[in-house]
Amino acid sequence: MAKSVYKRILLKLSGEALAGAQGTGINAQVIAQIAQDVKAAFDTGVQIGVVIGGGNIFRGVAASAQGMDRASSDYMGMLATCINALALQDAFEKAGIPTRVQSAIEMAEIAEPYIRRKAIRHLEKGRLVIFGAGTGNPYFTTDTAASLRAMEINAEVIMKATKVDGIYDKDPKKHADAKKYDTISYIEVLKQGLQVMDSTAISLCMDNKLPIMTFDLAKPGNILKAVAGENIGTVVK
Ligand code: GTP
Repeated sequence: MAKSVYKRILLKLSGEALAGAQGTGINAQVIAQIAQDVKAAFDTGVQIGVVIGGGNIFRGVAASAQGMDRASSDYMGMLATCINALALQDAFEKAGIPTRVQSAIEMAEIAEPYIRRKAIRHLEKGRLVIFGAGTGNPYFTTDTAASLRAMEINAEVIMKATKVDGIYDKDPKKHADAKKYDTISYIEVLKQGLQVMDSTAISLCMDNKLPIMTFDLAKPGNILKAVAGENIGTVVK
């Protein structure tokens, strides 16, 4: 059986990942497949915190670009992440992963409040913890929330599972000669404006020396490979 090279990780899933080909909402088959993949990684004994985005339900940045107040649209986005967190909890528990949801915005009837020491205790007791509502603040993305929570729970790495299989020097869809990086420095990502995470999230990781692994979520088994130490995408360090 595969072994984890990490004790504790933070897995960042985009909201869109839950939507599958339909692009919006939550696709039951897709979320069940993600849960199976996470279960395979979880079974290695690695402790897993998850930050989920909300873009499949509501994109705060897009709404603010169309004239909606940025703070209001960001709060709507945070609520969307809580919907996704509950959907993930349901899928994870059906796959046999004990799961707790903590929200950065208090909604006691729906989720536990975010309490750092309680989250760590849950992880130590073998529960996966899903962090909803981002950082609880507008103007911060869920990538920044992932960086922050990763640091707070002392995760050794952020695994950003996305739609692409790594970081390229140019758009691989437009350029046949685009080159994929195995590893890249934070500063290069910032300098070249590469779309890995927003600059606030990258800077936070850089200042605290937290590596970021990016890889393709759609390939079954990738989370387990990443946890086992295979570089299946690009590592920012
Ligand atoms: P231990 O303290 O280690 O036993 O952890 P536990 O999570 O099993 O126990 P606890 O009694 O804290 O929680 C039992 C269940 O209630 C878990 O599913 C929690 O996620 C949930 N829960 C705990 N606090 C809250 C809360 O403030 N709001 C909501 N909605 N659920 C909560």
